[in-house]
Amino acid sequence: MRKALITGISGQDGSYLAEYLNDLGYEVHGIVRRNSVPEHQASRIDFERLNITTHYGDLNDISSLNKILSKIMPDEIYNLGAQSHVRISFDVPQFTVQTNALGVLNLLESYKLICPKAKFYQASSSEMFGSSVDEDGFQRETTPFRPVSPYGCAKVFGYNISVNYRKAYKLHITNGILFNHESPRRGSNFVTNKVVKIAVQIKKGLKDKLELGNMDSYRDWGHSKDYVRAMHLILNNKNPEDFVVATGRTHSVREMVNYVFSKLKLDYKDYVVQNPKFLRPEELPYLKGDSSKLKSKFNWEPEYTFEKMLDEMIDFWNKTIK
Ligand code: NAP
Ligand code: GDD
Repeated sequence: MRKALITGISGQDGSYLAEYLNDLGYEVHGIVRRNSVPEHQASRIDFERLNITTHYGDLNDISSLNKILSKIMPDEIYNLGAQSHVRISFDVPQFTVQTNALGVLNLLESYKLICPKAKFYQASSSEMFGSSVDEDGFQRETTPFRPVSPYGCAKVFGYNISVNYRKAYKLHITNGILFNHESPRRGSNFVTNKVVKIAVQIKKGLKDKLELGNMDSYRDWGHSKDYVRAMHLILNNKNPEDFVVATGRTHSVREMVNYVFSKLKLDYKDYVVQNPKFLRPEELPYLKGDSSKLKSKFNWEPEYTFEKMLDEMIDFWNKTIK
C-alpha cells in the first residue's frame, strides 16, 4: 500500500485529494495545525468514513516535519499547506512568506534528509504570473513570473527552490501551476463562494446587499476535484516536471456575479456595492491558462465547466441555508 502525506489536508484541495487517494487505496496521512476549535480541522473531511491519519505539525516548525516524515516514511508528499488568500497576504506578509516560501524550504530539507526516494508535489500558483501574459493572451509553463502580491512573491520562491532542489539533488520534485479552482468547500472569503453564498442569502431574504472589491479582473476558474486528479498525475509523471493546470477559459468577476444572480432570477445591479476594504493594493488583472502540456501528456480533461461548477455551489448553499 502506497503512503501519501498531505500538508494542508484540512483545506479545500487537501480534503478532496485525501478522499481521492483514499479511494485509490493509499494510506493517507495529513498534517493539521493546532486550532482552538478542534472541530474546524474536520469541517471538510469525514474522518469517520475515511481511513486518514492526522498529525499535528506546522510548515514553520521543521522539528514537527522531521518527526512526521520519520514516522510515516511516505512514498508521495503533497505540499498544499499555505496562507492561500491573496488580499490577506498584504495584511500578513511576513506570515505568508514564512509559510509559503520558507515553509517549502523546511519541508524540502526534511524530505531530502529523511525520505529522498519519495516523490514531492509543490502547490504552485498562477498568481506567480502576476502582470505577465503571452502575446496570444495565455499564460503557460514558459511565461515569465511577475508577481503582484506578497502571496505571489512567496509562491515564486517556493517554485524556484523546488526546481533548484530537483536539479541540485536529483530529487523527484514536481510543480503544478494551478489556476483558480473552486467548489462548495472553497473558503467563503474567496470571491466565487462569497458571491454564491450571499446571493442565496439575498434570495432567501436574509441579506439585502453584497459588498465586493474589483469586479473587472478576469480569472480562469476550474473545479478543485478536477485539479486534485491532475496533482496525482503530475507527481507520478516518470520524469519530474512542471505543468500548468487550467481550463483555458476566462471570465470577469462581473460575468461570474451576473451568472450567479441570473440563475437565482435576481439582477445583481440591485444588490452589489463596492467596498474599498475588498480592493487590493495591487491587482492581478487577467488570468487564462494553457494546459496543452498536461492534456497531451496525460489526456487530462476537466469534467466541470465554469457553469456546472457554479451550479453545484448554488445548489450546495440553497440546501445549506435554511
Ligand atoms: P486552503 O483551503 O486555504 O487550505 C490551505 C491549507 O493550508 C489549510 O489546511 C491550512 O490549515 C494549511 N496551512 C496554512 N498555514 C499552514 C502552516 N503554517 N503549516 C501547515 N499548514 C498550513 O487552500 P486551497 O484552496 O486548498 O489551496 C491548496 C494549495 O494550493 C495552497 O498552497 C494554495 O496556495 C495553492 N493554490 C490554490 C489555488 C486555488 O485556486 N485554490 C490555486 C493555485 C494554488 P488551517 O485549516 O489550519 O488553516
Ligand atoms: N476574495 C475576494 N473578495 N475577491 C474579490 C472580491 C471580494 O470581495 N471582490 C472582487 N474580488 C476579486 C479579486 O480582487 C480578484 O481579482 C478576484 O476577485 C479573485 O479573488 P479570489 O477569489 O480571492 O482569488 P485570487 O485570484 O486572488 O487567488 C486565488 O487563486 C490563486 C490562483 O490564481 C487563491 O486561491 C490563491 O491561493 C491561488 O493561488
